[in-house]
Amino acid sequence: MQVHLVDHPLAAARLTTMRDKHTGNAAFRAALSDLTQMLVYEALADAPVDAIGIETPIKACAGTRLAAPPLFVPVLRAGLGMVEQAHAMVPEAFVGFVGVARDEATAKPVPYLESLPDDLAGQPVFVLDPMLATGGSMLHTLDLLVARGATDITVLCVVAAPQGVATLENSGYPLRLFVGAVDEGLDEASYIVPGLGDAGDRQFGPR
Ligand code: URA
Repeated sequence: MQVHLVDHPLAAARLTTMRDKHTGNAAFRAALSDLTQMLVYEALADAPVDAIGIETPIKACAGTRLAAPPLFVPVLRAGLGMVEQAHAMVPEAFVGFVGVARDEATAKPVPYLESLPDDLAGQPVFVLDPMLATGGSMLHTLDLLVARGATDITVLCVVAAPQGVATLENSGYPLRLFVGAVDEGLDEASYIVPGLGDAGDRQFGPR
């Protein structure tokens, strides 16, 4: 698996805003949106393009467009806060959805929604989830994508724990991971340390 740390002063500043427990819901969502823009930008840096011809108001000239726009797959609930910005950057992209709740007693993923195209062969897929903790929800999502033939999967996260990165490595799936920070580890409730708390609650309020 390729791991890309998006190590930029602006990314670090937005991540700091998100980590700060005094940051309110609206400011948290705004910082997540900004950081998503940076993650998508980095993850598309080597994307193949098609040459197209256009005309400026002055003369004909050569241009480009993405050859294969990714399918964005936010993992609900927390990934919802990333999809609007990702979609704004690639307006021609399609969007699928996976819903995974967390059983607070066991920290195990509880799937509740799957809305994806049947055939993902040849389709680049970008999975959006701000937090990669144990990696259980992400692994569930990757299993769904691979079962549909996906072979070109990029995971975009704000914060990861080393355990979550290891889960993805051990999956054996050909993946790229773009992440803002890899933190110290997990606490006894499987929250990332120092992390930023519950990314769903911090965007949308408690369930
Ligand atoms: N999910 C979150 O929202 N936060 C964590 O720290 C771990 C999983």
